Amino acid sequence: MKKVLYITGSLSLVIALVSCGGPRKDEGRAYMPDMAYSRAYETYSSTEALDKANIHYVARPVEGTIARGEMPAYTLKNDSAGYAQSAFVKNPLDSADLTAEQLTEAARLYQINCGICHGAKLDGNGPLYTSGAYPAAPRNLIGDPLMLAMTEGTMFHSVTYGKNLMGSYASQLSTKQRWQIIAFIKAEQAKKGAPAAAAPAAADSTAKK
Ligand code: HEC
Repeated sequence: MKKVLYITGSLSLVIALVSCGGPRKDEGRAYMPDMAYSRAYETYSSTEALDKANIHYVARPVEGTIARGEMPAYTLKNDSAGYAQSAFVKNPLDSADLTAEQLTEAARLYQINCGICHGAKLDGNGPLYTSGAYPAAPRNLIGDPLMLAMTEGTMFHSVTYGKNLMGSYASQLSTKQRWQIIAFIKAEQAKKGAPAAAAPAAADSTAKK
C-alpha cells in the first residue's frame, strides 16, 4: 500500500514539474484562418454610405411619432430658460390618481435609479453618498423646503437633463417612468404632511409645451 502511495506521489510530482514548462509559444497550425480569426469589423463605425441609401440598422423612430404607450416628448430646452419654464409644466400623472399598483412600480423605479443617492427614505442619505464615494450631497427630497416647494415640472426637467453632478435619466427611464417617479416623490412628501407645491401664477398659457 505504501509503495502505491509512493509511486503515485512521485508521478504526480513529475507531472506537476513537467507542466510548469512556461507558456507555449507555438500556436499550432490554423486550418482556414479566416474562419478561426474573424475580421475585426467595427460595428456601426461607418454607416454613412448606408445612411445615404436610407438603410438604418439602428432603427430610428419616424420624426414626430410616439411609441405606443409612451407619452409625448418633453420639448423644453436644456437651458436656464427651459429650467425656469419647467415650473409651469404639469405632471400628466396626478399623484393622487395613481393606483396602488402604479405607485408600487414608481417606488421600485425610484429605489433602482435614485435611492442609491437620495436614499431609500428619500432623505438624501443614499448609500453611495454616505459611503463617501460620491462628492455632492444629493437633495433631501422629503425634508428640504426647496424640494417641497419645487414643482413636479422642474423635478422632471432636472431628472430629464440632469442637474450639476446629477446625471440625466432620459436614457434609463421613459418619459412616463420619470413622471411616475416624480408623482411618487410628491406622494411621499404629501404623506409627510407637506402641502402640494403650488404652480406659479401665470401658469396656464405657457404651460403645456
Ligand atoms: C449619483 C447620485 C444621484 C442619483 C442616482 C440621483 N440624484 Fe438627484 N441629485 C443628486 C445631486 C448631487 C443633486 C443636487 C444637484 C445640485 O443642485 O447641485 C440632485 C438633485 C436632485 C433634484 C433637485 C433638482 C433641482 O432642480 O434642484 C431632484 C428633483 C432629484 N435630484 C431627483 C432625482 C431622481 C428622481 C432621481 C432618480 C431618477 C435622482 N435624483 C437620482 C444626485 C443624484
